Parts: sequence; C-alpha cells; structure tokens
Amino acid sequence: MLIEIVDSVSCYTYTMIEIKNVSKAFKKKKVLDNVSFVAKPGKVTGFLGPNGAGKTTTMKVLLELIYPDSGEAFVDEARFSQSKTPAKSVGALLDGKLMPKNRTPRTYLISVAKANKLDHTRIPHVLRETGLSHVANKKISTFSLGMCQRLSLSEALLGDPDNLILDEPVNGLDPEGIKWARDLFKKKAEEGKTVLVSSHILSEMENLADEIVIIAKGKIIKTGSLDEVKDGYSSLEDAFISLTGGDAEFKAGF
Ligand SMILES: Nc1ncnc2c1ncn2[C@@H]1O[C@H](COP(=O)(O)OP(=O)(O)OP(=O)(O)O)[C@@H](O)[C@H]1O
Ligand SMILES: [Mg+2]
Repeated sequence: MLIEIVDSVSCYTYTMIEIKNVSKAFKKKKVLDNVSFVAKPGKVTGFLGPNGAGKTTTMKVLLELIYPDSGEAFVDEARFSQSKTPAKSVGALLDGKLMPKNRTPRTYLISVAKANKLDHTRIPHVLRETGLSHVANKKISTFSLGMCQRLSLSEALLGDPDNLILDEPVNGLDPEGIKWARDLFKKKAEEGKTVLVSSHILSEMENLADEIVIIAKGKIIKTGSLDEVKDGYSSLEDAFISLTGGDAEFKAGF
C-alpha cells in the first residue's frame, strides 16, 4: 500500500512502481535511454509508445527478466527479486506469453499456485473474475487468443497482487472483452493497487488511464495526468501522434 513518511522538513511519498534512469542496449543498439517514471497506487497508468519504442523491454526490466546497463527499477520500494512474496507483490502479463496447450485453466492455475505458494482456493474467484468459469476444465488448446489473454490475466491476479504490470492486456479481446478488462483494471486501481498497462488502443486508454507515460525511441517524451497530456489536443490520439509522429524517426521504433 501507499506509504507516506512525513517529517518536519519535507513530505516523501513512496510509490509502488518506479523506474529510475534506466538505460539498456542490445548489441550496442540503445533501446532504453535514461528511462524514468513512476506508477502510483490507486491509479491506472497507461504506458504508450509506437512499435519498438521500448515498452515491453521496460516492463521486463521491472520484472528483472532483463537487467539494465544502468539505472534501477523498483516495485514496492525494492527490486522485484528481493520480494519475499513476488506473486503477491506483482501480477504480470507480458505480450506474447504462450500457455500450455494440454492443460486446462483449472489445472494450470493449480500448478501456478503451487509454484508460487499461493492460496489455490482463490482459483474459482479469479476464473469468475476473468469470465473463464465455464471453460475451467476445457483444454487450453481449444482457446481463442482472447481466452488465452483472460487466462494470462487470471494468472496475474491469482496472488491478489498490489501491483499489476500488464503488457498489451487487451490484445485479442473483442469489444465486450475490452470493456470488461477496462472495468476490471479500474476496479483494481480503486482497490488501491498500482496498475501499469501498455496498449496501442489510444481511444481505450483515454477511457481507462488516469496517468499517461509516453515512450518513443527508448526515451520518455511525456508523463502526466490524462488531462495534462491531452491539454491543447482534441484527443489522446491527437496528442500521441503529435508527440511521437511529428518526427518520422519516432515512427515504428528504430
Ligand atoms: N532480446 C532482444 N535482443 C535484441 N533487440 C531487442 C530484444 N528485445 C527487444 N529488442 C529491441 O528493442 C526495441 C524495443 O522493443 P520492445 O519490445 O521493448 O518495444 P515495444 O515498445 O514493446 O514494441 P511493441 O509496441 O511492438 O510491442 C526494439 O527495437 C526491439 O527490436
Ligand atoms: Mg511490446
């Protein structure tokens, strides 16, 4: 939860997800360049950027799946690997995660619960929350892309984590699924959780996000509340295109 330490001189608010001056190169190609931002508890933070901008890489740095060349990433004021209960601290959904085709949602989530020492009695609840109860015993091989996304979300929610790091979570969802996901993410933020979501669907982000972080070519080019980022533009899409598309080199990464 949000921890506030107030002393007589100043007020410090420790936020839940923080990335500080992170740089990363793959084979001398710099893909993150001094990236810093915070995602706050009780808010949905939309992480936006063109293809190849560095969104997934940033999220992988937060989860310590990739180590930065410099800078630091914190969840709950500590490195992810230092968490004693990582699945309760962070629920993550990364773009393109493959699900085991021969399992069912129920048996798969049981194995996730066991591996992470989580309460398996939450499984029916998360399956209800993600709309998969009716297919809980069906083979994952029969699932559509949207159903696999819902299952990935079930996995992320299993530990009832304080922080959600979600990379393109509405990919593959139909319009009803997108609305359902929006309501779910908003509810999680209202519960006080920190929700960091990347997406390409700007109209959706405009309905969902409280805070916006825009990255292009590995650099953070804008952060602020949705209203601040949209200020002077007719929509978030207009703001995004103006901020990232005006310069051709920002298009489609680098
Ligand atoms: N393991 C890797 N080795 C080499 N280059 C990589 C690796 N992972 C990512 N990249 C490069 O880093 C850059 C950022 O990629 P990243 O996947 O973070 O972008 P993204 O913003 O998530 O894009 P998208 O919107 O397409 O998902 C790209 O140029 C990509 O080719
Ligand atoms: Mg990506």
